Order: sequence, then C-alpha cells, then structure tokens
Amino acid sequence: MASQDSFNQWNFAWEKNNTKWHIQERHPYLEKYTDVLLNGRKEVQIFFPMCGKCVDMKWFYDNGHRVVGVEYVEKGVVEFFQEQGLEYVVEPVEQICGNLYKTADEHLKIFCCDFLKFDKDCAGLMDVVWDRGALVAIEKGDRKKYVKLMLSILAPGYQYLLSTFCYDDWFFSGCPRTVPPALVHILFGNHCNLQHLETRDASERMSERMDIRPVLEDFWLITEKNLK
Ligand SMILES: C[S@@+](CC[C@H](N)C(=O)[O-])C[C@H]1O[C@@H](n2cnc3c(N)ncnc32)[C@H](O)[C@@H]1O
Repeated sequence: MASQDSFNQWNFAWEKNNTKWHIQERHPYLEKYTDVLLNGRKEVQIFFPMCGKCVDMKWFYDNGHRVVGVEYVEKGVVEFFQEQGLEYVVEPVEQICGNLYKTADEHLKIFCCDFLKFDKDCAGLMDVVWDRGALVAIEKGDRKKYVKLMLSILAPGYQYLLSTFCYDDWFFSGCPRTVPPALVHILFGNHCNLQHLETRDASERMSERMDIRPVLEDFWLITEKNLK
C-alpha cells in the first residue's frame, strides 16, 4: 500500500483542482504511437494505471477497445465520466477495498482504489498499456512492487508505452520523479524487450513546477522478451 502521506497529497491536489498534469486533448505521443501499440488489432484491452481523468481513455472506448483504469481519488474518476458525458454505474469491490465505476456495456472500467491492490483478477490481462504519470508518480520504495504488478497483468504480445522524466533531482524530488534511462533498464530490462523511442526536452513545459534544466522526457516501448 502507498503511504497515507501520499494519499493525502493526491486527495488535496484533486480537492484544490491542482491537476496541472491533466491535458484536455489526446496526448500527442500516445496518438503518435497508437498504431504501433495496436499492432493491427481492432479490439484490445488497454490499461491506464493511475489514470486520473485522462481523455485518451474515451478515445479508445469510442474506437471499440476495452479500457481499464485505476485511480485512487474518487473525484478524478467522477470528473472523468461527467466531463466525457458518459453514464456510469458504481459497485463496491471488496478485494480492492474500493469501488468499480463502469459504463453500462462494461467496456470502460475505472477501479477506484490504491493501485497496489489491483491485480489480474480484477479485469483480466492487458494487451496495451499507457503508463504516463504513473511510474514517475509512485514513491521510490514502491517501484519494484509496481513493476512486478504490471508484469503480472500483461497479456501475451503486449505493447506497453511508457513515459519517464530525467533530471537532476538535487533540488526537486516531487512528482514527476526522475526515472533515468539506466533505472528503466534495471526495472524492466531483465523481463522485457525495451526500445527507447525518443526523448523530448520538457524543460519549458515543466518550468512552472520545477526550476531545473534540462528536464528530459523519454518514451519507451516495452514488449514481450524475444518478440520483435
Ligand atoms: C500525475 S497524475 C497522472 C494522471 C494520468 N495518468 C494522466 O496522464 O493524466 C497521477 C495520478 O495517480 C493517482 N494516484 C496516486 N497514487 C495512486 C495510487 N497509489 N493508486 C492509484 N492512483 C494513484 C493520482 O490521484 C493522480 O490522479
């Protein structure tokens, strides 16, 4: 379980509408790599760990895919459905000590709980993952547990797109946390194929939150080991 401090901070951020990470449009890099992720498939189950109210979930739902998200803060989940104009039903799920919010057709599900309580019994295996603001948001001490959990819910042939940040964290150690390329290799390299797709300079964009330069954002494609 993540620490109570961390839950309090996220609750507070949502309460104050301090959700600067949220973007109103599709994420340009998820959009850019959507065809790679789908790999010719028309219907996948796509996973959004620590999803917030990410609008890309609606895009995949509208395009015939099954969408699964996990978000701790209920306000974020409710805002997602309301802002996207989607009706939902809520049911308690004992196993996660939380609630499941879902569309009537059950093609879009958001589990409202601590990510570390989620497992493959909740929604089955994931064909595609969009990991943005998740690995970089969790506390350092939870990273190994996070990766173990992610690996346990991946379907054969999965395609996993990961965004990480890299900067000198001497003066700033908040979220997004720095996860340098060497650490990505340590966390995933033994278990998966890891392809570094590209790096963008995020210094300008992040300058409101951290007065550090450079801040680099890396994008990674993670696939099953020994598959190309
Ligand atoms: C940086 S935001 C990213 C949101 C989303 N991935 C996006 O790209 O817009 C991190 C999100 O994770 C949620 N969160 C933090 N800790 C969590 C946990 N232990 N389990 C589930 N969600 C968590 C926060 O409430 C917040 O909405």
